[in-house]
Amino acid sequence: MNKFTTSAFRVRSAPHSTLHPSPRQAEVCRPDEGRTGVVNTQDQMTGAGQAYRVWADAPGSFSTHKITALHHNFHKHPLFQLAELANLAKELVPFEQCRFIRPGISQASSFTHDSQHPDGRSIDEVFGRIEEAGSWVALYNIEVIPRYAALLASIVETMRPHIEREQPGIFNINGFAFISAPPSVTPFHIDRENNIWLQLHGRKTMNVWDHTDRVVVAADAVEDFIVRHSLRKVRFKEEFRARSHQFETQPGDAVYFPSTSPHMTSSDRSWTQPGDGVSISIGVTFYTSVTRRMARVHQVNRLLRKAGMSPAFPGESPTADALKAPIGGMVGMARASLSRAIAPLRRVKLAATAPPGSF
Ligand SMILES: [Fe+2]
Repeated sequence: MNKFTTSAFRVRSAPHSTLHPSPRQAEVCRPDEGRTGVVNTQDQMTGAGQAYRVWADAPGSFSTHKITALHHNFHKHPLFQLAELANLAKELVPFEQCRFIRPGISQASSFTHDSQHPDGRSIDEVFGRIEEAGSWVALYNIEVIPRYAALLASIVETMRPHIEREQPGIFNINGFAFISAPPSVTPFHIDRENNIWLQLHGRKTMNVWDHTDRVVVAADAVEDFIVRHSLRKVRFKEEFRARSHQFETQPGDAVYFPSTSPHMTSSDRSWTQPGDGVSISIGVTFYTSVTRRMARVHQVNRLLRKAGMSPAFPGESPTADALKAPIGGMVGMARASLSRAIAPLRRVKLAATAPPGSF
């Protein structure tokens, strides 16, 4: 296991339905909702007069293709305090974007969640009892609220020069906030997007695996997820743990990981004390021209696999990728058109939905 021991990452003995909702949900953004999408000057500065930012210790060697420990000071931002997140949650209820997992879930469980609390609690009650052990709520696609869309954009903006050195064309910046009282976990899964994950409050252990590790997630499982929206073949086994990068995080710590990097989190009660027992983190996700190209190649690979072939995984053959990507883009657009045409047939629609960020 790779344990990170920078000043911000202390080592001890060793975070979505099953998918992040489609980024198209961002289209429900309501310009008249709450505060405007502009983060004012005061919001952009910490109490100490410093600008909010995310940074790498060695920015020159940052690579979008590698899991990297980062730092940030967004945990001091007013909009990331628990009371403000409770207000945000109330705004997300109508969109069914407050998500709950069933009690007793483990890191090896399937990552399924529901818009209804398992005990039927209201969102006010959820936050009123958030310090109770085992509490868990995730706020999905917070970018639908303009003031948070602006905040998420400002987070990515601070890393944009380093990201776009390798992956130009950032688009669809989304945010997923996880609020829990330990013992709590977020099960093992993968996402389509690149992720800047920030710990905002309390402690959390983050395990991340290289996106190229085919022992942990097989090639066809990645393809299943990208093209068919299924995590059925993405499952944690305890023997995988030793292959992970493990981060012991506290406020001010962040981790960058590339699209399709397997990850999971946990938080135990060792750090908690009365009045301070809630762990808050946020995944800030985004697509780029590179993630779009990979998704398009996956799309074509699925068709080739159906034809009995064993196509090269995206990135293995630049020549093959160059041939597949334009075809994958056209297939994606065709699937998107079909999906819109049969929108009333929801179950069929999911099967027809093109990979988000691919067309
Ligand atoms: Fe995730």
